Amino acid sequence: MFEITTHPVPEAVRQRAYLKDEDYQRLYRQSVEQPETFWAEQANTFLDWFKPWHSVRHEDLRKGQVSWFRGGQLNVAYNCIDRHLARRGEQVAFIWEGDNPSESAHITYNKLYSHVCRLANVLKQRGVSKGDRVCIYMPMVPEAAYAMLACARIGAVHSVVFGGFSPDSLRDRILDSDCRTVITADEGVRGGKYIPLKANVDKALQSCPNVSTVVVVERTQGKIAWVEGRDLWYHEALSTADNDCPPEPMDAEDPLFILYTSGSTGKPKGVLHTTGGYLLQVAMTHKYVFDYHDGDIFWCTADVGWVTGHSYIVYGPLANGATSLIFEGVPNYPDASRFWQVVDKHQVNIFYTAPTALRALMREGEEPVKKTSRASLRLLGTVGEPINPEAWEWYYHVVGEMRCPIVDTWWQTETGAIMIAPLPGATALKPGSATRPFFGVQPALLDEQGKEIDGPGSGVLAIKASWPSQIRTVFGDHQRMIDTYFTAYPGYYFTGDGARRDEDGYYWITGRVDDVINVSGHRIGTAEVESALVLHDAVAEAAVVGYPHDLKGQGIYAFVTPMKGIEPDEALKQELLAMVTQEIGSFAKPELIQWAPALPKTRSGKIMRRILRKIACNELDTLGDTSTLADPSVVEGLIEKRLNT
Ligand code: WTA
Repeated sequence: MFEITTHPVPEAVRQRAYLKDEDYQRLYRQSVEQPETFWAEQANTFLDWFKPWHSVRHEDLRKGQVSWFRGGQLNVAYNCIDRHLARRGEQVAFIWEGDNPSESAHITYNKLYSHVCRLANVLKQRGVSKGDRVCIYMPMVPEAAYAMLACARIGAVHSVVFGGFSPDSLRDRILDSDCRTVITADEGVRGGKYIPLKANVDKALQSCPNVSTVVVVERTQGKIAWVEGRDLWYHEALSTADNDCPPEPMDAEDPLFILYTSGSTGKPKGVLHTTGGYLLQVAMTHKYVFDYHDGDIFWCTADVGWVTGHSYIVYGPLANGATSLIFEGVPNYPDASRFWQVVDKHQVNIFYTAPTALRALMREGEEPVKKTSRASLRLLGTVGEPINPEAWEWYYHVVGEMRCPIVDTWWQTETGAIMIAPLPGATALKPGSATRPFFGVQPALLDEQGKEIDGPGSGVLAIKASWPSQIRTVFGDHQRMIDTYFTAYPGYYFTGDGARRDEDGYYWITGRVDDVINVSGHRIGTAEVESALVLHDAVAEAAVVGYPHDLKGQGIYAFVTPMKGIEPDEALKQELLAMVTQEIGSFAKPELIQWAPALPKTRSGKIMRRILRKIACNELDTLGDTSTLADPSVVEGLIEKRLNT
């Protein structure tokens, strides 16, 4: 076992930081003892309001009903752009670094204002108004952020769909939230490869009759099909649009965006976030968790298609008037030194990435890192999955040269903003632990009976009071939100994660306790992969589980029962992988497919996933009781032919 060393707060970091340990203790206590006073003060400090709220917080976690800053009015784009213009008009808001190292751009707050207003006017001209949903399916170009902010400016609700999703997934998301406008690009570029985004949109829209506008950003000038009347070029439309667009006053609880995410069952859910509470918590966490100071260059490597990109490329940094870097490429193109070259090129001070990227780079050795300077780096962060202590130490020693604290941030699409993380000037670090809760966040560990565990111990992780950036509903299906998050443990928000709390009150996230697999930081529901597999005519049944994977954190292991009379072979396997790529996206392809003449089932016909998980993880000595199975011999056969040995 890897030995965990505690890293105390370095004096230089403490000196510079906004918050020291005594501040954390004091403010945390205030945030849970007098939440209304605490959050009212923060909301006035961090945001500009058109109209003050009349009540800070309402919550009924049993009904999944929460609201923050009711009656207050503000606009997110105004807070992210307009209010900075007097002081920061010529400051860079976004640095864009292209996939090709010779391409980059700097966008000032003044330019950002102009792009966002003009696009907002184009959307208005096309009939988009407050409350309408707009789908954004974009590569990592600044226009993706302009699109989000243009929606926010006019009160439209954006639904960003990650560019790695297939046309079928895109179609489902467009239909679920009834988007009538899509913003996309001709093609995306990643790692030297072209992604046919517009062609994917065209395919998806064959089954979306309500979409009347497709705005297309010209990225590659690749050949694309064109639908007259529906499609318009971004640059042409903007060239005649007015340069000013008044920000729509929004109620604090008006929706800001929908973001689809996978859960244990069924189709992905449209997680809905609202305006005031969301913006407050992303701004506040961006400032304090990353100890962001004026002039710092902040780089979050996530894609804007995921919540991390929403909160820490766009909304959190811009609310604080920061300079945020948007990176189009991948960590290993043109070579494994790219991240650090970009750090040097743009003098990045704060760098936030996923453990999976670090593990991949670690394999390439120290040379690609060491040949760069990285002297600008002051702080490092991780998100998306548990970080193994080996990767943590590598990040700390090799990348940060023991100078940069690492903030391991735990949160979810549903939480909107960081929930558990160190504050660099306040928290001693333990590799692998997300450490302590952020202000206002009250985690609880629950045992199997749903009872709270006091002191050190392990259990499922729940949150026992509302926080401002909390999920408000699942779009179009509020009951589903209650069922998913507020029913298993009444009075708590159930995270789906397991965790341990140590003797210092630090949290160690152990991973999902539900049927969600975290592959390279991508959340994938086993049910979604199973539905894709059984669509194939040759498949009778499929069960999908996760298993530990050195690079990806978790890999997908599929047990597939072919139809009677089918002899499964390599060709069928390839067809199944293609099926998953078509239905979801290639990132959801199973790593291992084992043919299963039958699946272990209870006498009532329920698949025993617990046993399949054990087989996939090669944990045969803890297989548990198989006597309740309808046919215990099925298990023997699967064990014999298991693929992860
Ligand atoms: C996992 C990403 C351990 C966790 C922001 C959670 C983590 C899921 C961490 C949410 C972390 C995220 N340590 N596990 N620091 N951060 N996770 O919705 O299982 O894409 O429930 O949000 O990622 O993934 P999502």
